[in-house]
Amino acid sequence: MSTELDQRCRDLVVELGLGAASDVSEVRPLTGGVASDIAMVVLPDQKICVKFALPKLRVAADWQAPVHRNAAEYAWLKVAADILPDSSVRLYGRSETAHGFAMEFLDGQGVYLWKDALLAEAKDRGEAARVADMLGQIHKASAANGFDTSAFQNRDDFRALRIEPYLGYTAQNHPDLAAILGALEEMLYDGNAVLVHGDVSPKNILFRDDVPLVLDAECATMGDASFDPSFCLNHLVLKAIHLPGSSDSLLTQVQAFWAAYATHITWEAPADLEARICRLLPALMLARVDGKSPVEYLDEAGRETVRRVAIPLIKSPVTTVADFADNIAIALKEIRS
Ligand SMILES: Nc1ncnc2c1ncn2[C@@H]1O[C@H](COP(=O)(O)OP(=O)(O)O)[C@@H](O)[C@H]1O
Ligand SMILES: [Mg+2]
Repeated sequence: MSTELDQRCRDLVVELGLGAASDVSEVRPLTGGVASDIAMVVLPDQKICVKFALPKLRVAADWQAPVHRNAAEYAWLKVAADILPDSSVRLYGRSETAHGFAMEFLDGQGVYLWKDALLAEAKDRGEAARVADMLGQIHKASAANGFDTSAFQNRDDFRALRIEPYLGYTAQNHPDLAAILGALEEMLYDGNAVLVHGDVSPKNILFRDDVPLVLDAECATMGDASFDPSFCLNHLVLKAIHLPGSSDSLLTQVQAFWAAYATHITWEAPADLEARICRLLPALMLARVDGKSPVEYLDEAGRETVRRVAIPLIKSPVTTVADFADNIAIALKEIRS
């Protein structure tokens, strides 16, 4: 264990008034994150989770990220806790100087990471619709008059953390798609209708029984509503490509996600947002193969399938999520036959 991390955790516990340094009986680093130091900290009467932003992400390509994103993350978690107190992690305070915060440690019976359930091809428990319902409620509340956007004026961070690494980097590898991808980059940079989480990925969503708890909000910004649904749907679609035995179920979950999310759209015509999602989603698919942050579970054949499926949909987008799912299903049948 890093003694340096151990010390930072003890200092944070003291600074936040959660106990004395000597109350900490164990600091156990958690795995999975690339953007932060995150650890379980054991105190006499509870376990907490502490998270510190790292100045440089642990991915292959060089990828710098400002540490003040830790403040945006904490602010997003607070908004979620205000809007959906039963579907959010309890918060125990944040240190401005340490770029770190403390929250409830989620474990025990009935707690599982959505990504683990998806990759294990566990029975669908309606997770996609539950996540979409939660996300739709947050987007809706953030679009309302009077929502305090001051902690979320982060479009330049969002460009550095999301737009550039995903779309900009992919455009360099696919010059023939650069104009289309560039238009999507502008759309994401210019949008500000809702509070975007920015990393709605199954690896950042723990379920406690049937309740989704969304973590890892470091990219939070006011932005375009298409991003979060597209980002999450992308994970389902990529897993449909990766797991032939689950393709049908995952594509059904894509539709269930959209149906649940769409009931909350008040800030614009749902058909407009749906059409933007249908443009962005195939671009994000390609980005997880030829962008800066490739998914780890696809082999070269899987990556080639993603290109074959995504590129036609980037060039000639459909306008409904149902058509999108049908297109993927047909393309996969052709490729697999
Ligand atoms: N409050 C928590 N309780 C239990 N596990 C957590 C908690 N927060 C995060 N984790 C676990 O740690 C992993 C990394 O945390 P995350 O916030 O996603 O960090 P990173 O920004 O580095 O990806 C998550 O995928 C999850 O498995
Ligand atoms: Mg994460």
